[in-house]
Amino acid sequence: MSTPMIDQYFKLKKQYPNILLFYRLGDFYEMFFEDAKKASKLLNIVLTKRGKLNGKPIPMAGIPVNSIENYLSKLIKLGESVAICEQIQKKKILSKKKILDRKIVRIITPGTVSDDVLLNNYFDNLLGAIYQDIKLGFGYATLNISSGDFRIMENKDINIIAGELERTNPTELLYSENFTNISLIEKRNCIRRRPLWEFDIDTAFQQLNMQFGTKNLKSFGIEKSLIAVRAAGCLIQYVKDTQRVYLPHINNIFLENHNNEIIMDENTRKNLEIINSISGNNENTLIKVLDYTTTSMGSRLLKRWLNNPIRDIKIILNRQKNISILQKYYFDFKKILLKIRDIERIIARLALKTAKPHDLVSLRQTLNYLPYFYKIFKNIDNCEIKTKILNLGSFLSLKNLLEKSIKKKPSLSLREGDVIASGYNILLDELRKFSKDSNKYLSFLEQKERNLLKLEKLKIGFNTIHGYYIQINKSYKSDIPNKYIQIQTLKNFNRYTIPELKKYEKNILNSKEKLINLEKKLYEELFDYINPFLKNLQKLSLYLSELDVLCNLAERSLTLNYTCPIIKKKIGISLINSRHPIVENIIKSPFIANNVLLNNNHNILLITGPNMGGKSTYMRQVALIILMTYIGSYVPADKAIIGPIDRIFTRIGSTDDISSGLSTFMVEMIETANILRNATQKSLVLMDEIGRGTSTHDGLAIAWACAENIAKKNKSLTLFATNYIELTNLKIKNKCIKNVYFDAIELNNSIVFLHKVKIGSINKNYGLFVASLAGIPKEVINQAKKKIKQLKNYNTLS
Ligand SMILES: Nc1ncnc2c1ncn2[C@@H]1O[C@H](COP(=O)(O)OP(=O)(O)OP(=O)(O)O)[C@@H](O)[C@H]1O
Ligand SMILES: [Mg+2]
Repeated sequence: MSTPMIDQYFKLKKQYPNILLFYRLGDFYEMFFEDAKKASKLLNIVLTKRGKLNGKPIPMAGIPVNSIENYLSKLIKLGESVAICEQIQKKKILSKKKILDRKIVRIITPGTVSDDVLLNNYFDNLLGAIYQDIKLGFGYATLNISSGDFRIMENKDINIIAGELERTNPTELLYSENFTNISLIEKRNCIRRRPLWEFDIDTAFQQLNMQFGTKNLKSFGIEKSLIAVRAAGCLIQYVKDTQRVYLPHINNIFLENHNNEIIMDENTRKNLEIINSISGNNENTLIKVLDYTTTSMGSRLLKRWLNNPIRDIKIILNRQKNISILQKYYFDFKKILLKIRDIERIIARLALKTAKPHDLVSLRQTLNYLPYFYKIFKNIDNCEIKTKILNLGSFLSLKNLLEKSIKKKPSLSLREGDVIASGYNILLDELRKFSKDSNKYLSFLEQKERNLLKLEKLKIGFNTIHGYYIQINKSYKSDIPNKYIQIQTLKNFNRYTIPELKKYEKNILNSKEKLINLEKKLYEELFDYINPFLKNLQKLSLYLSELDVLCNLAERSLTLNYTCPIIKKKIGISLINSRHPIVENIIKSPFIANNVLLNNNHNILLITGPNMGGKSTYMRQVALIILMTYIGSYVPADKAIIGPIDRIFTRIGSTDDISSGLSTFMVEMIETANILRNATQKSLVLMDEIGRGTSTHDGLAIAWACAENIAKKNKSLTLFATNYIELTNLKIKNKCIKNVYFDAIELNNSIVFLHKVKIGSINKNYGLFVASLAGIPKEVINQAKKKIKQLKNYNTLS
């Protein structure tokens, strides 16, 4: 037979059949039935039983309320979501009803978490939603619930969407049930299929207007981006449904415009090893070289910049100017940046009303350090970051509020009390005094009874069932006074109450409850007082992050000897003594710097030279320097002049995609087709040994045709590395192609790579040298040498 509790449980569970329900029962969150079995496996907790349903025991597993965060963290990492159900009725009011009211107060999902312990400090945590319309293409929305950053974009090109998914890397992705290109998303963790009506366009407009408090979405410039708005609509409904509070910090939505950014597709992002390396060893990445930021907010912002180089020259020039000024002052700023806290994420918790007392202390500490920033800014030339931060003002009233309301060292959780500062509320102070006096009275009473009974071990204690009691050891042999009424018997002790204690108990318990409730109320009111500051606090957190990134880039530019690139309107790339930012940091020998010249007249460099000569390194360094330029950073070269770039394409290496059913060569050709179709005059194209994956004849022919096509049709700025020496003849008919090569010299039967780029070409491969360097057995090498001779004879005969 079912009990009222199980009935209530089923009612709540019905709302969220597919996610774990944490059902609050006293000091535990309990899970029942399938949830209990699943959680006990995932969390390694004991599976027990509680009561029966239809004659069968009900499986149950529970976790203590106090350690919920650890368990949530595990579940979130596994991609699980959790519905938290709380008791919303005070025990006292519970009269004849058998069961407390309960409600689902929040749903924790991987993409919407904001709690400190559940987040990685150094990576943004994004929720994404994607919609596909067969005719119009893809609409994609992302939300960073911590910063409130809400963005949408739409595009027909599946490669661009794949690149966006790679760039934004959402922790949780909602997709419409009619989504056809499932291969685009199926490998991602935590994807959630959502019904089509959640992407309904009218509902989307209504939901977004409700969120922003607007009548229409004109001012955001997104009214015509219907498929992107559909995705945004689904996303905002999901967030509202999971968070269940108003989210004032989500107050804007941006339409991403690809004319403002340098587009990189998924492969390019991977190949350039910006944030992650292909081998999975993240030591050798651009972020490792560039990220010496002081704060985790700064580290996250730098990743955003690197993932999204922009084409707005004004912004780039501003960042360059900031860096040049900060080269003198970054050291001073870094000292203060060390003291500030991750306020971006605190702001989100303030908006969601889940901020802990120490969050408020961290915010207060950060605001208290603002004057130190102002002091340094006073001495430095005007620059954008200075103006932005100074214009925000000093948050005096908020600082005062936090100073007055929160104790210097509040306890960790509100449940423990001792969070609100004394002097903030008269009633609270009085209740606290009473509680203190009560404690004094209890000590007094304890001492009095000890004297009376002549028993030093007599003790006054408290438990929730019997309230206050006097505990006496069973070994006490003398008479116990009449006024002592026994209320509990334990193995070694008896517990009693006396009239004085009973009388006091009522007063104390009453005032304790009042105290806890009042403190909670005052704390919750604080969120309302802080609310009006959220918008400016969001700006402050962004500007402080920017200051950190700019200081970091200033320090990097000096430490690593980078130069400020000159940005020109004319198409072309000119680099004097440029270096590869990652390789120069890894190798023990000195890095050999090289020049690069690409312009309208010579837009293709055809690169030949021995294996291990440095071709791939040279090509990648150009792309990385372009990328660094367009985030505003200085670059590893003696001089750099860089024109406009709209996209970076790479066709590098052989990334097998066996799981998608595509062969190495097929992947290579798909990527090449994408380049030939989409690269423009302003695109940077890296083609590393295309055609290698098939027979020599076919490969050479394809490589030849591709190079000629890029030269004549696309006219893109191209670095084309090849081992087919025949391709160097392309130059004869195509004046825009220039041959360059990397040389090596043979020394005492060994080989020395010069790594210096030269104009022209060489007809030597050194393949066998490299093979023997790699440890191929001598007899195999000798056999290969013989074969080369045979092949040469064969070729001349035929
Ligand atoms: N400019 C340079 N200065 C110093 N060392 C370099 C330079 N360029 C490359 N190297 C070193 O040579 C190694 C091989 O370079 P890279 O992979 O670019 O050669 P490659 O010509 O592309 O060879 P393959 O034809 O086999 O692909 C690099 O890992 C690096 O250690
Ligand atoms: Mg190579």
